[in-house]
Amino acid sequence: MKIIIATNNPHKTEEIKNFLKAILLKFIPWQTCIKEDIKETGNTIEENALIKARFLKEKVDGIVIADDTGLFVEYLNGQPGVYSARFAGENATYEDNNKKLLKLLEGVPYEKRKAYFKTVIAVVEREKETLLEGKLEGYILDRPRGKNGFGYDPIFYVDDLEKTLAELTMEEKNKISHRANALVKLKNYILQRLGEK
Ligand code: IMP
Repeated sequence: MKIIIATNNPHKTEEIKNFLKAILLKFIPWQTCIKEDIKETGNTIEENALIKARFLKEKVDGIVIADDTGLFVEYLNGQPGVYSARFAGENATYEDNNKKLLKLLEGVPYEKRKAYFKTVIAVVEREKETLLEGKLEGYILDRPRGKNGFGYDPIFYVDDLEKTLAELTMEEKNKISHRANALVKLKNYILQRLGEK
């Protein structure tokens, strides 16, 4: 069984490989297969994950996986959602995106600042397409806290832990994160496929 990860992001490839290494599969990183950028033209993160996985499926033989993540803020009707990476514009930095979000939530009380991260992993093999989902619920603070992580981590507060994601170590984040939850499902999917052989 061959698994191909549809991502240009070496950190993501590493993270996924690390998660799955116990299953000892042969991996071909995306970069060694294809060098093009895929336009994420979907209206949802589910569509974007499928677009990426289907694109690569046409070019390689094996199980193709691709993921997409978004931050969904209840008070903003799910924004930034599918636009999380480019919320403050096409070339926006993480800081730009966080600033825009904090501005939009200015004066909004804590209990109305509920949000969740959602990661979707699309698994495409032969005619079969499967979507696996992982979520993490929390609140958007009114200012950044912590130095770890990336993206919206410094303003995303996890009530149970009384910390933002940027105040957690990577190990701590990887125990609870949306991406980790989706990766557990991917692991189970692959284990089940191996069992079918
Ligand atoms: P991607 O689909 O994984 O590239 O994620 C899209 C965008 O969502 C990123 O550019 C980040 O702004 C944000 N994001 C994704 N995962 C995380 C996370 O674990 N913490 C904070 N922000 C994230």
